[in-house]
Amino acid sequence: MKILVTGGCGYIGSHTCVELLDANYEIVVIDNFSNSKPDVIDKIKQITGKDFTFYEGDVQDKELLNKIFKENKIDAAIHFAGFKAVGESVAKPLMYYRNNLDTTLSLLEVMNDHNCKKIVFSSSATVYGKPDTLPIKETAPLSTTNPYGTTKLMIEDILRDVYKSDNTWSIAILRYFNPIGAHKSGLIGENPNGIPNNLMPYIVKVATHELDHLNVFGNDYNTKDGTGVRDYIHVVDLAKGHISAINYVLNHTGCDTYNLGTGHGYSVLDLVNTFKEVNHVEVAYQITDRRPGDIDACYADPSKAKEILNWEANLEIEEMCKDAYNFVQKDNN
Ligand code: WQD
Repeated sequence: MKILVTGGCGYIGSHTCVELLDANYEIVVIDNFSNSKPDVIDKIKQITGKDFTFYEGDVQDKELLNKIFKENKIDAAIHFAGFKAVGESVAKPLMYYRNNLDTTLSLLEVMNDHNCKKIVFSSSATVYGKPDTLPIKETAPLSTTNPYGTTKLMIEDILRDVYKSDNTWSIAILRYFNPIGAHKSGLIGENPNGIPNNLMPYIVKVATHELDHLNVFGNDYNTKDGTGVRDYIHVVDLAKGHISAINYVLNHTGCDTYNLGTGHGYSVLDLVNTFKEVNHVEVAYQITDRRPGDIDACYADPSKAKEILNWEANLEIEEMCKDAYNFVQKDNN
């Protein structure tokens, strides 16, 4: 079986490529390196000992996509390619709508033209907005508070409409909670350039003294210690969720959504203290004002993915913290 992976050099994409190759899938990767580095290709090959086909380019480029489908018999696609920074999307909404929607529409049109109608889509728990009840089920109300989240919800709706128009499609929409950590080899992981938006990469940069201290965005939330609670999931568990989803879409038709989370919520201070303890490092922090748009708590009910995809997260918060630190210590810049 041959799987097209868009954005396969990115943080979650690269970990998913490793799991696909380890599961004996053939893969074809397309990436324009807008949020990834070319050396990831060799690192995926080094980890797995396997080769794969790579095309550098933009998923908006239908000519390139047609070339890929003409040169490869693609059985299904996993669609990661897209911009994903919440803050940036607020500042540059048109860039986010153009990129995230055009990549998806181009991909779906070319897949349809080549009669390839099986896709796993990278969505996000951000489509739940501020949840009314916890843990969050897939049937929870959907609402978005930023253009990034809105593109994810719009793409989910596009996929649902595609299936309504042609029920021979097989579509799995995966709603990620908070992916953190890195492959045990320390060869791939998340180390964004500059000031990170997300908590774990920021903690790591403070631990390695690249940044002076962490700003904890508020300690007056309605949580056990007042700091924000999230469902952190090891990126390798998340990647394995894509293998379960691709196995499912290859053997079924339909269109459905699945939460990929652990079902456990951890506060900002839980993560900081666990990181310090397992890595034997200091992480200086200051409590500051809330970040606009942040919610008190968010964590998944992952039972549907367990029941239908036969997937559940296994790795604990301690391993997430160890693996995140191990990656940057292997001097991956
Ligand atoms: C986690 C917690 C912050 C940074 C976002 C996107 C979501 C997904 C994951 C793409 C919150 C606190 C953070 C810092 C802090 N991305 N925090 N200091 O906001 O839950 O989710 O990333 O799909 O779509 O919305 O993740 O890591 O930014 O924040 O105190 O410097 O850490 O307030 O409570 P978030 P995050």
